[in-house]
Amino acid sequence: MKRPSLISPELLERIVDASEDGIVVAEQEGDENILIYVNQGFERLTGYSADEILYQDCRFLQNEDRDQPGLDAIRKSLAAGLPCREVLRNYRKDGTLFYNELSITPVFDEQDNLTYFIGVQKDVTERVEAQQELERLKREHGSA
Ligand SMILES: Cc1cc2nc3c(=O)[nH]c(=O)nc-3n(C[C@H](O)[C@H](O)[C@H](O)COP(=O)(O)O)c2cc1C
Repeated sequence: MKRPSLISPELLERIVDASEDGIVVAEQEGDENILIYVNQGFERLTGYSADEILYQDCRFLQNEDRDQPGLDAIRKSLAAGLPCREVLRNYRKDGTLFYNELSITPVFDEQDNLTYFIGVQKDVTERVEAQQELERLKREHGSA
């Protein structure tokens, strides 16, 4: 049963924009998924404004760093219309690296056609770098 909405579209947009995480919507076009919406969290995280990147596939965030195991998993999930979560190396507009824990969720219409993908981008750089430092210390000092 469809519940009536208790909040206005304007308030909903304020809520989505308040998120620290990036929240995007992409639509399938040929073999690409092009961005049709990005929230302000995405703009803050990546340094790109919506105007600069709408209608592009989000892969531009990888720059030339295309050899990543997470990308294979994402390609398979998108092709199968399944949700996925992978950590990717991405680059802000100023070129700095951040680790992006990307969650993708497919959206289906009433006829069960896949219409959109929702993407949530979480900056997990601190966590990944702490793990890498721990691994480095273990290697240097030998682990029991
Ligand atoms: C909704 C959605 C959001 C995405 N967000 C990102 C992202 O933030 N960073 C990224 O590197 N790739 C992101 N991707 C993945 C790329 O768009 C693309 O699917 C991936 O690079 C694998 O395909 P390719 O080999 O054609 O590039 C997203 C995909 C979708 C559908």
